[in-house]
Amino acid sequence: MRQVDVGLGARSYRVLIGEGLIDRAGEWLAPLARNAAITIVSEENVWTAQGKRLVDALARTGTACNPILVAPGEASKSWATLATVIDRLVELGTERQDHIVAFGGGVIGDLTGFAAAILNRGCNYVQIPTSLLAQVDSSVGGKTAINVPAGKNLVGAFHQPSLVLIDPLALATLPTRELRAGYAEVVKYGLIGDPAFFDWCEAHGHEVIAGDVAAQSHAIEASVGAKALIVAEDERETSGRRALLNLGHTFGHALEAETGFSDRLLHGEAVAIGMALAFHFSARRGLCSADDAARATAHLAAVGLPTQMRGIETTAGRLMAHMAKDKKKSGGRVSFILARAIGEAFVDAGVDLGDVETFLAEELG
Ligand code: GLY
Repeated sequence: MRQVDVGLGARSYRVLIGEGLIDRAGEWLAPLARNAAITIVSEENVWTAQGKRLVDALARTGTACNPILVAPGEASKSWATLATVIDRLVELGTERQDHIVAFGGGVIGDLTGFAAAILNRGCNYVQIPTSLLAQVDSSVGGKTAINVPAGKNLVGAFHQPSLVLIDPLALATLPTRELRAGYAEVVKYGLIGDPAFFDWCEAHGHEVIAGDVAAQSHAIEASVGAKALIVAEDERETSGRRALLNLGHTFGHALEAETGFSDRLLHGEAVAIGMALAFHFSARRGLCSADDAARATAHLAAVGLPTQMRGIETTAGRLMAHMAKDKKKSGGRVSFILARAIGEAFVDAGVDLGDVETFLAEELG
């Protein structure tokens, strides 16, 4: 088992990573239970695939669980589902010092974390992420949110979990397409700040997607280690350090908006296209070499991720309109994460939006 510490003073917590941790979860959750019971928020697919492991693990420590199940998919990050979850938590008598468990992918972590942030003016929660995307990114760092018609993740809070338990064996039942989409966020850590990890991704990325548990464990440990350092340095994304984690996300969110935040384009797939665009735009502006842009794109394509906007019905103007609404806009400008090389990303708040539109128009052909 590996332990990564997220150092945030009084809000510090541990991320434990190990094969079979779900089957041992009672060791950590039983001491957090009240009246020998703990509430678990999950979604129907995850519960069918992995829920018995968690229920059995809790039972072995004499702990009962109160499951709250929501529908799978991004649509559950809504006011309506949030209200349902909160009402149920209230019915269960949840108190401020209680711990709620988020057991699922990024949707469950974001929704449960936000419910925990606002119920009783803040309860504790534990993340047990079951998708690769949640294991390497969204379960660590305390960003919680729901979506509203005006935009994705527009309503939320920074609310850190008290513990994160990551079991790579949970990935065994994850559809390959979701595994691959989560892998885009793994590659991101190499592209933003760790060229040696990008080399590792080039050599072993296909093993992560093929289900090799040793490769998956290494990818998770490296990603969580990198993220923990960034979050400890810039918890609320104020210094620009944490904003680097948004590489590919400004373009990616615009593409997700154009495809209705649907299965047509998964978040990680949109981020893969966005990272390729960010590198090509950086090369076009003379910031990084064309070779680095080609190499970053080639690896994403080699593992089967999309790197071009082909097939997406959109225009440069429509994408620009989405970016203008992006919450990362500040002081009337849209910030882009660009790159000087593989492993050297930086925040550029001074990009001329006309240049971006011309670039996108050319990319769309
Ligand atoms: N997923 C980006 C962040 O946690 O800041």
